[in-house]
Amino acid sequence: MTQRRLLLLNGPNLNLLGTRQPEIYGATTLAQIEQQVAATAAEHGLDLRAVQSNHEGALIDAIHAARADCAGIIINPGGYSHTSVAIPDALAAVELPVVEVHLSNVHRREPFRHHSYVSAVAEVVIAGAGPLGYRFAVAHLAGRLS
Ligand code: DQA
Repeated sequence: MTQRRLLLLNGPNLNLLGTRQPEIYGATTLAQIEQQVAATAAEHGLDLRAVQSNHEGALIDAIHAARADCAGIIINPGGYSHTSVAIPDALAAVELPVVEVHLSNVHRREPFRHHSYVSAVAEVVIAGAGPLGYRFAVAHLAGRLS
């Protein structure tokens, strides 16, 4: 049976959205983003599983679990984008389509944010669209699955 669920995965410090550097990341909380993304997914007939963790291993476990019951992964790896080899390894291992999202335009920021290890395994990379970026990601995956 074709899976109709997406995994929305947010990495470290994204639980603080709404109060974390709002001049960079905006005022929308993660709970609000998850609600909006679930609503967009529902419009496309898709379920959403939303997971946030500050721990690299927990993010990897969620990626592995997605192999059993998800059709695609939307991930904002936060700071791990720029440091982790294990997260892109996990994404490559599960062989699901991946959209990488960054709220901020990382390319306008410090040089260490310009490289993401995850981008090499992502089908699409969205940066700088704020919370809307996650909904663009749903639209991409929904189109791909239809
Ligand atoms: C971020 C950008 C990263 O550089 C940063 O470490 C984050 C958030 C973004 O959504 O813009 O935690 O991924």
